[in-house]
Amino acid sequence: MTEPVAPQPVVPEPVAPEPVAPEPVVAEPVAFPQDRGCPYHPPAPYQPLREARPLSRVALFDGGTVWVVTGHATARELLADQRLSTNRENRGFPVPTERFAQLRNRRTALLGVDDPEHHTQRRMLIPSFTVKRVTALRPQIQRTVDRLLDAMTEQGAPAELVSAYALPVPSMVICALLGVPYADHDFFEAQSRRLLRGPSPADTEDARDQLNEYLGALIDRKREDPGEALLDELIQQQLHEGTVDRRELISLAAILLVAGHETTANMISLGTFTLLQHPEQLAELRAQESLMPTAVEELLRFLSIADGMLRVATEDIEVAGTTIRADEGVIFSTSLINRDTAAYTAPDTLDWHRSARHHVAFGFGIHQCLGQNLARAEMEIALRTLFVRLPGLRLAAPAETIPFKPGDTLQGMVELPVAW
Ligand code: HEM
Repeated sequence: MTEPVAPQPVVPEPVAPEPVAPEPVVAEPVAFPQDRGCPYHPPAPYQPLREARPLSRVALFDGGTVWVVTGHATARELLADQRLSTNRENRGFPVPTERFAQLRNRRTALLGVDDPEHHTQRRMLIPSFTVKRVTALRPQIQRTVDRLLDAMTEQGAPAELVSAYALPVPSMVICALLGVPYADHDFFEAQSRRLLRGPSPADTEDARDQLNEYLGALIDRKREDPGEALLDELIQQQLHEGTVDRRELISLAAILLVAGHETTANMISLGTFTLLQHPEQLAELRAQESLMPTAVEELLRFLSIADGMLRVATEDIEVAGTTIRADEGVIFSTSLINRDTAAYTAPDTLDWHRSARHHVAFGFGIHQCLGQNLARAEMEIALRTLFVRLPGLRLAAPAETIPFKPGDTLQGMVELPVAW
């Protein structure tokens, strides 16, 4: 007898295995913004964002995620796209730090409004910031720079360059241009500092209120007793004719005053620090002063002090093979965009011989910096005069001990001790 054959289990015909998709690499979105490790280089943890160019997702402090743009061509395409709005009241507008959360419901003139309102406001101001107007201001900027350096050298070394020079240069210039008394600089500089990096949301809001109150009172005084500066012109020509109301004029004055001094001050302080850390490039600049205008452009690109321009999509936008959905936030990392290897050769090197002019350190599109001609003239005159008059300029403390600003605000030096 033969053993009954146990029924064989039905083995399914072998089939060609499905190609196995590689396990998706679900990288945690990089946190944004982060502090720089070196004041003139983008934070090292942003490296994956550089590699994922031109667009990635980043995580904000509240756990939400938004788009970050890191590619140069994509940045310029998107910054020119009117479907991206700067109006903070729009749903989904990115709030990169807690202290800006409360400012979301406050309207800001110019930078916080879209066309056509933006165009109307900007048109009123453009004549005061043209190359021609700024060229006419150069002798005054030079006198300001000279006086400040006289005072600093009379006091003798060491000096703290931010308070003695980098801050007062643009602060004095914007005061004269606007018609704000420089005698009040301690007050408005303190409010600007709190506004840009105060310790809490309530503090930021209070700084904003105090600045607005101060400028409102100044505008009221000027209505009674007009002067000849830009604010006086705006009162005579625009407020009286009803093109702007008092609230809007206060907001315009605030953005001009704050953007007019904080930004350039940071470029002068961080620019000086960076040059002192790059002796070869500094020596070349000293030997060939005509390089200064291109050096300023390269410093703007290299330092990218306004590292995070904010927008929100008002419609779906197809870009770089991706869809940015309506109501999604978009942040432009200028430090990464300005170091895109597709736009610049060896972008991490400071090089006076490249043409850096198409950088986005001043933004791009309709909100591109209104004060850029003025900022260029101030940087050029302040840096050239500083290094010509003080050939022995050096840091008066070890570089690694000198404090610089955290990543969630305009980049620059908190203090800069120097000797000569
Ligand atoms: C080196 C110094 C400066 C840098 C790096 C800088 C950077 C920028 C950037 C990146 C933007 C565009 C922001 C965005 O699109 O979200 C901007 C806009 C603006 N900047 Fe500057 N800025 C500087 C100096 C100045 C100065 C001296 C003024 C003087 C008034 C000024 C006034 C403005 C104004 C009013 C806007 C808004 C323009 C608009 O919305 O149409 N900036 N700036």
